[in-house]
Amino acid sequence: MNNNWQHGFYRRSTQERQEIISRQLHLDNDHQRLMADHATSLGNQLIENYLTDYQLPEGVAVGLVVNGRDYTVPMVVEEPSVIAAASNGAQRVARSGGFTASNEERMMIGQVVFKDVDDPAELKKWVHANYQRILSTANAAHPSMQKRGGGAKGLRLREEPPFVSLDLQIDVCEAMGANCVNTMAEAAAELMRQHGWEVSAAILSNLATESCQTVTARVDFDNLGGHGFSGAETAQGIADLSTLAQVDPYRAATHNKGIMNGIDAVMIAAGNDWRAIESGAHAYAARNGQYRGLSTWQIEGQQLVGRMTLPMPTGVVGGSIGLNPQTRMNYQISGIQTAQQLAQVAASVGLAQNLAALRALATNGIQAGHMKLQYRSLALSVGATPKEAPLVAAQLAKIEHPDKQQAKEILSKIRKD
Ligand code: MEV
Repeated sequence: MNNNWQHGFYRRSTQERQEIISRQLHLDNDHQRLMADHATSLGNQLIENYLTDYQLPEGVAVGLVVNGRDYTVPMVVEEPSVIAAASNGAQRVARSGGFTASNEERMMIGQVVFKDVDDPAELKKWVHANYQRILSTANAAHPSMQKRGGGAKGLRLREEPPFVSLDLQIDVCEAMGANCVNTMAEAAAELMRQHGWEVSAAILSNLATESCQTVTARVDFDNLGGHGFSGAETAQGIADLSTLAQVDPYRAATHNKGIMNGIDAVMIAAGNDWRAIESGAHAYAARNGQYRGLSTWQIEGQQLVGRMTLPMPTGVVGGSIGLNPQTRMNYQISGIQTAQQLAQVAASVGLAQNLAALRALATNGIQAGHMKLQYRSLALSVGATPKEAPLVAAQLAKIEHPDKQQAKEILSKIRKD
């Protein structure tokens, strides 16, 4: 295959790139039009080798109460059951008073890593003697953060043989702050190099243990029953599943995937780097050497109580947030104004999501609800209108493993009738 077209591809205009890809990879007219219709100048500004915008559905979770305030939360996700589950869990918690979310000081961590340090005590002594100098060098590299009241505030040394990590603690105010932290870490690294210390790497850590968010949900038994199960039975089933996620990493991964279904969808809608939140969450889940569920649920009196703590280094300014009008619209919908508020809301959505999943697992199983939504998607995929979709879905539910062909047949029968 002749790959000459790849040379200098990044320097081409969007239209040229679309033409090259269409020609080289034999796209038909429909695909060419699709690519052209969804291209935006913003997309071209944000990434390299830009072709077009890839679309995902956006919806809102409703009825999420956090610290006494009712939120409508934009979520961007392709999985049919996610927003339904978030709203379901949120409303069950809201009926018992809503989520309680902590307010905590938030810091990011920038690492300057040294390898094969002959004498860690010597490094410790040097860092101790130059403590303020390291901080002011870091702050001078990104002065606007200090003007906003943030900046490098402290540091510590951590030994992870054969490495030693100098962890800068940086207040990035309302931003996610990756660029700021990396710039500061590199400046501190340069200072250390100038004084003879051999630096391996300087980079932020996504294990943002100093930006942790804790959320709590108390759900009265009365708000848990259904599908032939009492509230108390459902609560016990959920508490058992919570224990399972603490002892079995196979289950913990799925338990946490459910939580991240909600958190990621909120992060995407809020223009945040959701991969950063994902990696931090999973690293935190394994912080004691075994991967465990991020949330726990236990029975206290006549209530089921859920608790979750995880790193939530969120931001409401910077990155693509100010550039993307759709992200700005989402902040208008949610009313979220601070990074702390975003962390509180996203973590609450994650716990709501988890409650809905565990409740389904503890009662009639996950597939009943999931399949209802899958049938609807199948109906839509064969061209059913929003009005026809529930009718097609109801017929599909009666078939054991319905496929696209059957969905088409049902749709044309409905249209004929
Ligand atoms: C599916 O996307 C997420 C669940 O599997 C989560 C869970 O099992 O807890 C339903």
